[in-house]
Amino acid sequence: MDAPTNDGFLKITDSRTDREYQIPIRDGAVPALQLRQIKTSDDDFGLLAYDPAFQNTASCRSAITYIDGERGILRYRGYPIEELAVGSTFLEVAYLLLYGELPEPAELTRWTHDITHHTFVHENIRKFIDGFRYDAHPMGMLVSTLAALSTFYPDAKELFDEEQRRTQIVRLIAKMPTLAAFAYRHAVGHPTVYPDNDLAYAGNFMNMMWKATELKYQPNPVFEHALDVLFILHADHEQNCSASTMRVVGSSHADPYSAAAAASAALYGPLHGGANEQVLRMLNTIGSVENIPAYIERVKTGEFRLMGFGHRVYKNFDPRAKIIKKIADEVFEVTGRNPLLDIALELERIALEDEYFVSHKLYPNVDFYSGIIYQTMGFPVEMFPVLFAIGRMPGWLAQWREGLLDSEQAIARPRQLYVGEPERHVEVGRASSFD
Ligand code: CMC
Repeated sequence: MDAPTNDGFLKITDSRTDREYQIPIRDGAVPALQLRQIKTSDDDFGLLAYDPAFQNTASCRSAITYIDGERGILRYRGYPIEELAVGSTFLEVAYLLLYGELPEPAELTRWTHDITHHTFVHENIRKFIDGFRYDAHPMGMLVSTLAALSTFYPDAKELFDEEQRRTQIVRLIAKMPTLAAFAYRHAVGHPTVYPDNDLAYAGNFMNMMWKATELKYQPNPVFEHALDVLFILHADHEQNCSASTMRVVGSSHADPYSAAAAASAALYGPLHGGANEQVLRMLNTIGSVENIPAYIERVKTGEFRLMGFGHRVYKNFDPRAKIIKKIADEVFEVTGRNPLLDIALELERIALEDEYFVSHKLYPNVDFYSGIIYQTMGFPVEMFPVLFAIGRMPGWLAQWREGLLDSEQAIARPRQLYVGEPERHVEVGRASSFD
């Protein structure tokens, strides 16, 4: 059995009042609002749950993604990630995350057709991208252009019309590779390449990234497959920082483009989707295998973290990292071995034996090897978080849709414990800047 279903009661005695309470336990959780009844007096606000960074708070009921961090299990809609990675395409997985089932052939045909035919963006978006400096980070460009898309689709505000919602979902999944590739081509000063509807999702993205003077771009099938699998592995990860951001912004009934821009901004941070970029920078800084022990010592003294290691949820291994290692081998068979791989493997070996990493339950996460594959395929490091964002878009949208349709949800609005000054007053006659 996956999730705890044992219901019961939590008996609480409040030592301040000696009063007893019974708080219901449902699905292994107590409803935090029930704590409000625990008061010291009638005008007391009631007990709050204090949980910085939501480390022990379930913010929703979700049927999308299941993770067992102790056992290294990740499932989308019940299907193990290992099976989806070998048996499905990214677009099938996107459909699964959003609508709960793998698509039947007719549904898949329509889904693929719709996504393929929404890959173009308005020409003004291209001009908007032209306004960025030549050295603008592509993730900054992606965040901004996603937000800008909301101004092109005012119909996206019709959140509770299922057809409208589906259209925006299709548009967002379809346009992500286009925005990403346009941002890249702008950064390198190359003319934009428009989508090629003959190509599949990942292959078309490669076309927009790398097509030069050839009449028809032919994606390398090994790279195309690797990219598709990497997108699948990144497609959802339940209530992580960016998915929670998507839900929180969505809870105010902002349109999905604005919510997706906010989710991408959350992903940009080096502790989240920015980590794969940091892993590559770290491997380059280490430079060679001999420098690893000294580097590890500095991590252990707390000078900095070993990027690509550790996870809030996985405490034994990250199942995505295992699949990525296999994909890396397939890519290296085509390209030859990336020299950074030797540093990564040695770093992993030492870290997995070292008492600090073992006792802190720190294992390679999804970002540890993905960056090396991306680099080998020719993506610059700045594009790594952008690649993560392309893969994560269906997950964000599934979380957003589920949140919108959940009658238990309302606008997200946490409480705080105020620790500032008590009431005080502005001194009469105090000199002000208007004097
Ligand atoms: N290197 C060295 N020490 C670490 C690391 C690391 N990568 N991660 C955690 N620790 C230590 C940390 O110093 C702390 O030690 P102590 O208890 O002695 O003070 C302990 O482990 C717990 O750390 P934490 O920050 O409380 O753990 P968390 O669950 O809040 O953080 C994390 C999870 C992913 C932010 C963190 O492990 C980290 O910063 N890792 C490096 C960045 C990274 O690879 N991020 C990608 C995450 S996977 C992709 C994604 O979902 O975005």
